[in-house]
Amino acid sequence: MASASAAVSINRTLSPPSPLQPSWRSPQPLRCTHSERGVSFDPGSAFYRSDSALGRDLAVLAATLHRQSRPDPSSPFLCLDAMCGSGVRALRYLAQAGADFVWANDASDALRPVVVANLSRLHLSHGDGQRRWVVSHLDATRLLAERYLRREYFDVIDVDSFGSEAEYIRAAFLSLKIGGLAYLTSTDWRSARGYGGKCSLSSYGAYIRPVPYPNEIGLRMLIGGAARESAMLGFHIKPVFSYYASHGPIYRAMVQLCHGKEDDISNYGFICHCKSCGQTQTFGFDELGQISCGCADRADATSITVVGPLWTGSLHDASSITEMLNLAVEWGWAYTSENGTTLQKLLDTMIEESDPQLPPGYIRLDEIASRAKVNSPPLGTLINSLRKVFNYLLHQCMIN
Ligand SMILES: C[S@@+](CC[C@H](N)C(=O)[O-])C[C@H]1O[C@@H](n2cnc3c(N)ncnc32)[C@H](O)[C@@H]1O
Ligand SMILES: [Zn+2]
Repeated sequence: MASASAAVSINRTLSPPSPLQPSWRSPQPLRCTHSERGVSFDPGSAFYRSDSALGRDLAVLAATLHRQSRPDPSSPFLCLDAMCGSGVRALRYLAQAGADFVWANDASDALRPVVVANLSRLHLSHGDGQRRWVVSHLDATRLLAERYLRREYFDVIDVDSFGSEAEYIRAAFLSLKIGGLAYLTSTDWRSARGYGGKCSLSSYGAYIRPVPYPNEIGLRMLIGGAARESAMLGFHIKPVFSYYASHGPIYRAMVQLCHGKEDDISNYGFICHCKSCGQTQTFGFDELGQISCGCADRADATSITVVGPLWTGSLHDASSITEMLNLAVEWGWAYTSENGTTLQKLLDTMIEESDPQLPPGYIRLDEIASRAKVNSPPLGTLINSLRKVFNYLLHQCMIN
């Protein structure tokens, strides 16, 4: 099984494909058609979406904090971008997250001149001759499996995949250092919305049917699949953050691979939504025979929708997100936005969502108002009132 110590030797024993084999065209002349947080690059013919810059900002912030908090911060910090497209992430891991080495891979070898030209903005080697980056063109799963077989383990593995491809998750965990971060992606919105039952079952082991909060379900499906894969390998995971972006749409989760299997499976189970009353509840495997809703319509089995098994725990880690926000403020990233949403707004929302007492699912305010046959108050007003009531009750409990 993966051993963190073996990973340290990667910079010395690495035998990567040459970044500039004679059969390849030389890198194209440098152009700077795009820029993300001050890093310039040219996407060329690669698949590139400026809308995804926020997802890349999050990755860079989390990776930077992870680099600083590792048990041995002086060891080389190694990243692998398994589906790199233009190489923008690889470039940002190098230039912004302080990676000592990045492996940039994309199955399409037609992208080689683009990726090499972009990474060539940074020197190929450190002063001591150690490589800073390599570019390869392999299927991601094959590349990751090869790294594992060579005992080359990475601190961050980023797999920015299309669709519901999930076979790379296990391969990514195998070649990740224990404690390392895996940045996983799904664009399988059909499954998240409950129209791809067989697909989500084969990819993530979850059967999904339509519920009113499909964006959250897509994230829970992806994290649940990762939790299952990690358990199979004798590990467990902790979500650092998860992020749904409507362009695509895209479901992203940054998870940390942690040592040992977890006996507690209370974060992995089933979500039950009742159409009659709008309630959502979670059920564990040991409660499978008891799934029902306490509302008046409990006899109507068709009012109940059960999805899972999937991740029912917290979608983000509050302390990691708080540190990411602090770093974003320090770097001057928090309040500026290239695409509408600021990191400050996004990370503040994630901090609020991280409350471990918050159950999965939600009911929309307009639905509550329509069920109660009243006009809905402004959301902010309602939240502030609920907070006041909560604080009052808490205060009463403490003084009694
Ligand atoms: C979403 S794009 C990557 C975008 C890039 N990560 C970014 O942030 O701009 C996905 C890339 O994965 C590549 N790809 C698709 N299947 C792959 C596979 N099985 N292994 C490696 N790369 C693959 C595609 O050629 C494409 O460039
Ligand atoms: Zn009900």
